[in-house]
Parts: sequence; structure tokens; C-alpha cells
Amino acid sequence: MCELGVNIDHVATVRQARKTFEPDPVWAATLAELGGADGITVHLREDRRHIQVRDLEILHATVTAKLNLELACDNDVLDIACTIQPEQATLVPEKREEVTTEGGLDAVGSKAMVSTAITRLQDAGIKVSLFLDPDPEQIEFAATLGVSAVELHTGQYALAKGQQQDEELAKLTNSGKQVRQLGMALHAGHGLTYKNVQPVANIAGMHELNIGHSIVARAIMVGMERAVRDMKKAIHETP
Ligand code: PXP
Repeated sequence: MCELGVNIDHVATVRQARKTFEPDPVWAATLAELGGADGITVHLREDRRHIQVRDLEILHATVTAKLNLELACDNDVLDIACTIQPEQATLVPEKREEVTTEGGLDAVGSKAMVSTAITRLQDAGIKVSLFLDPDPEQIEFAATLGVSAVELHTGQYALAKGQQQDEELAKLTNSGKQVRQLGMALHAGHGLTYKNVQPVANIAGMHELNIGHSIVARAIMVGMERAVRDMKKAIHETP
């Protein structure tokens, strides 16, 4: 069955907008688990724009579902990952100026850096997944690195429309087959929404989907009415 990893980075984005204590991604993780999340995913970025080391430490102590840490092949973040030891680490490319992760990791083009990062994580007992574009060369190379899983980047599929989206889905389907034939677990994520998720979830052998923005966006909307009602009550309540 396809599992859902809920990415809670953007709960921390809202907190960091005010550098305060709320909303706490740790609370959000608990609620996500109550909602049935099979995993909690966070990206500890080099610039710490959302998730902080403190979040990762507390999440590691409190999350009972699988904790998946997204990280770049950066020595400082690798040190933190190897110390905290989440169950799974997903290596992603990272650029300071990007709004969100753009494109998959170029494992072929940065062999030494990627294989050193994988060895460090695996030596610390962490399962490694690589975030890759649906590109046969990258996937074939991933298999030689001994990683447990490949997370296919669904960003192009999510952006495409009509026939172009069908073509992107076909690429994901073919790449999914290749990932499984090479003996790795099949994951996917990025840009998935309530509307576009189903065809990706139905790709044969899909094991894990990591979804963040769309879930956090909906959480704000479905929770707004109640939040305003509670504030009105707080204002008008007699002590
Ligand atoms: N998977 C990876 C590797 C990502 O970098 C991200 C974004 O942090 C996601 C999944 C989730 O993407 P979205 O927030 O668009 O659902």
C-alpha cells in the first residue's frame, strides 16, 4: 500500500516569519500522525529558513511514524543527520536562492559528493533515498550506489497540463518500473495536490508519497473558521 509522508516544513515557515514559537511543527507532526500520516518529512536547509535543529531533535524523540529527513550533501547538515539518526534520509539538491527544491539531484554529475554522503548516512544506520528526476541514467546510477529508495521528482508532472501531463506521467511510470526492477523502493513527491495525486499514487509499486505544501495549505483553510471563532470567544469571554 502506498504510504503518505507529510512534509511539515511550511508550518515552520509560518513560525519563522515571526521567529516565535508558533505554529510548532512538532505539534503539527502529532496531528498529522493522528490524521493517519505514515511518515513525517522535514527538510533541514543549510539556511535554516524553516525547520531548525531543535525541531529535528524533538521530532526524532516524539514521532512514532517514520521520520524522513531531506538534506543536501552538506557536511554540517550530514553531521547533524548522523547524530540524530532519523530512520530515513532523502538527499536533495539545494540552492540558497530557490523558493523550493528545483529539479532532482544530479547524482551522475556529482558522484564523489553523493557517494560520500550516502556512505556517511548508511554508516550511521540511516536508510538513504535519492530525489531524482525521472531520468533513466540517474536511476541506473542510483542502483550502483546501494541506496534503499529513489524518490521521483513529480514537479514537472504537477506543472504540466493536458497531453503534456500525460507525457510526464508516462515518464514517471517508466522510471517507476526501472526503480523497482533495480531493486529499490519507489517514492515520489513535489507539487502533488488533492487533484493530481491519484495517477501518481496508482503507479505500480508506489511505496511512499511525500506531500507538504498542499496539505499545509488545506490545513490553514479548513482550520481558519474554527481559529477565528476561538479568538472571538477569547475576546468576549468573561474571566
Ligand atoms: N519531496 C522532496 C524531495 C521535496 O524537496 C519536497 C519539498 O520540500 C517535497 C517532496 C514536498 O513537496 P510539496 O511541498 O510540493 O508537496
